Amino acid sequence: MHELNRRSFLKAAGAASATTMLGARMHALTAMQTEPARPVAANDHIQIALIGAGGQGQGDTKIAVQVPGVKLVAVADCYNGRLDHSKEIWGDDIFTTRDYNEILARKDIDAVIIGTPDHWHKHASCDAMKAGKDVYCEKPMIHLYADGPEMIETAHATNRIIQIGSQRVSSLLYIKAKELLEAGAIGKLNMVTARWDRNSAMGAWSYTVPLDASPETCDWPRFLGSAPKIPFNAEHFFQWRKWKAYGSGVAGDLFVHLFSGTHFITGSHGPTRGMAAGGLRFWNDGRDVPDVMLGLFDYREGFNLSLRVNFVDGGEESEGLIFTGSEGTMEIGGGAVTVTRVPREQAPGYMIDSFTEAMQKQILADYDKKYPPHSGSESLGGVEKYEAPHGYSDSYDHFKNFFEAVRTRKPVVEDAVFGFRAAGAALLSNLSIERGQVVKWDPDAMKLV
Ligand SMILES: NC(=O)c1ccc[n+]([C@@H]2O[C@H](COP(=O)([O-])OP(=O)(O)OC[C@H]3O[C@@H](n4cnc5c(N)ncnc54)[C@H](O)[C@@H]3O)[C@@H](O)[C@H]2O)c1
Repeated sequence: MHELNRRSFLKAAGAASATTMLGARMHALTAMQTEPARPVAANDHIQIALIGAGGQGQGDTKIAVQVPGVKLVAVADCYNGRLDHSKEIWGDDIFTTRDYNEILARKDIDAVIIGTPDHWHKHASCDAMKAGKDVYCEKPMIHLYADGPEMIETAHATNRIIQIGSQRVSSLLYIKAKELLEAGAIGKLNMVTARWDRNSAMGAWSYTVPLDASPETCDWPRFLGSAPKIPFNAEHFFQWRKWKAYGSGVAGDLFVHLFSGTHFITGSHGPTRGMAAGGLRFWNDGRDVPDVMLGLFDYREGFNLSLRVNFVDGGEESEGLIFTGSEGTMEIGGGAVTVTRVPREQAPGYMIDSFTEAMQKQILADYDKKYPPHSGSESLGGVEKYEAPHGYSDSYDHFKNFFEAVRTRKPVVEDAVFGFRAAGAALLSNLSIERGQVVKWDPDAMKLV
């Protein structure tokens, strides 16, 4: 078994391209996206619209239209400045509106990208699917637990494609990590630790409020949607992540990426129990969600997940996952997957100093006979590093996967079931803090227990 694992690990490792000073063997991963694009027939073009043209919506769309055969025709947003800027980016021919229903009513739109705040994800996705559109919906898929089943059922009933926007699950680094774990590169997985630390005002969501923000330039009632009705508040509109009414705290914003990555790589449906601790430690600016959060989760596959998001550490931004197995670790971070193999010692070692000298001698003599030095296990160690090409974009691959599904009707990598399992697991942390309890979850049925 050991040998089989080792052989498959070496095979998965591929040909080494270089060795660093520290002895790590370096491998350059190849991105599919660098291959020349297939020509797309005119009748195979996909026309898309963007709903929610803020930071992520605009960023997503800039990437989506780089996929061959994809054209943006319309944009909906609640702030005039973003509709105007959409025309600046994509031209005056783009149809713009504050009301996404005008977009959904158009027959010439095949698919929509949803980049609204979280509290609109379910409404916009379900409305779009019912109008016959395929959907790329940003993460976290849900804002409330009830959103999950409704989105899954609507996708099923309307036979629409829905891809959730945790782009890392399309990353060639994550694909490599999955392959390595399956090949036994680190032995049996025992633990995953993941972190996302951000110490800047931008990292902590204090996004710039535009100079002209007002009830005239912002469609406040439409932004609020199903959220509690309060008078116009520009911070709520432009920094919505700080309030539970629209966002899902660090759990929905950041934990969810770490869950989707863990689930993709391990193939797990999710945790069975979760508990979190956290609080508002530094950014006392009126927000009602923690800026420090730690979560612990049990997986029935026999590993634990520990997560940390920290907005106040004073250090550099740091994001990544470490998979710890019985024979080493695998880290994803800094644009690479690094496997450090630490083979388990075959010899048990000894602790004999407190015994008589005669007995120490006897134990040592027996030990050397039973466990001769250099019995071979050392040669299995070493560091292998797999690097993504410079400028690699996992978002591009995630969109490519989505548009391929739109064309072929084949499943996407992150459908509504996957999206709900990741977001449902992430939001256990909020529930645990709210209730002051461990929260149980059935990852197959996707239900709180
Ligand atoms: N995948 C990622 O890495 C990633 C990164 C950042 C954000 N996101 C996700 O993208 C989403 C948007 O985040 P953001 O940072 O771009 O927020 P943002 O505030 O910059 O943009 C949201 C936009 O949605 C608009 N909007 C609100 N309600 C609307 C409605 N009913 N119809 C049309 N437009 C509406 C707002 O006017 C705003 O312009 C969030 O769900 C977030 O979690 C994902």
